[in-house]
Amino acid sequence: MRILLIGPPASGKGTQAEWICEEYGIPRISLGGMLRKHVADRTDIGEQAQAYMDRGELVPDDIVIKMMDERLKEDDCRNGFLLDGYPRTMRQALALDENFGLDIVLHLHVGDEEVIRRMSGRRTCPGCEDVYHVVYDPPRKEGVCDKCGSNLIIREDDKEETLRKRLEVYNEETSVLISFYSEKGILGNVDASGSIKETRSKTKKVLDELGKS
Ligand code: AP5
Repeated sequence: MRILLIGPPASGKGTQAEWICEEYGIPRISLGGMLRKHVADRTDIGEQAQAYMDRGELVPDDIVIKMMDERLKEDDCRNGFLLDGYPRTMRQALALDENFGLDIVLHLHVGDEEVIRRMSGRRTCPGCEDVYHVVYDPPRKEGVCDKCGSNLIIREDDKEETLRKRLEVYNEETSVLISFYSEKGILGNVDASGSIKETRSKTKKVLDELGKS
């Protein structure tokens, strides 16, 4: 199963990705997570990407297409994968189609104000990229990751000003992909404005329906 989760920043892609990957036994490929690791490790890619990420802009296609092409050729992707946050431009979508393809695209839709509420309480694990929310999904011990015990952080690009830029970029560059995948007949829309649990059951329903067709 090759699945893509698409939706605005903080719509809950990472949160839903977790259980989907467990249920289908596929790896989660988060391009944002891969880029953050490059920045932390101070690699050449990290140095090129950081300024774009800090401004809430997309990292150039040439860099990310090559990264994903290499990642998706790895052995663990042979039986499928879940893409979280890639593709985000038409050029990325066409490159993905040419070499790999997708079976299901889940579009999580949430209004801008809810996105801002979610983002303002997000805490992220720098170790395993697990995601929490101080109110909606708190860790068992305040400030500490349930899974790996690292201290949780607030992401650099979670400032409201940067988030608004990320929303603008999403509306301008990424939302066109929704009609692109809809025309291919592989798009499922999920109302992701409810609680994490409600969104999980709506996502499951859409996944099951698309999986049968
Ligand atoms: P990336 O890391 O992919 O960020 P994003 O798409 O903006 O998505 P987020 O990780 O912010 O949110 P999410 O939808 O996963 O929500 P989450 O589950 O965390 O990308 C970062 C940057 O990398 C980009 O800006 C760009 O620079 C670069 N980049 C990445 N991909 C690229 C590409 N393809 N091309 C070029 N550049 C690229 O949830 C958010 C919060 O809400 C959490 O606190 C969570 O606990 C909470 N929450 C989740 N669901 C609910 C719910 N239903 N109710 C209440 N709270 C909820």
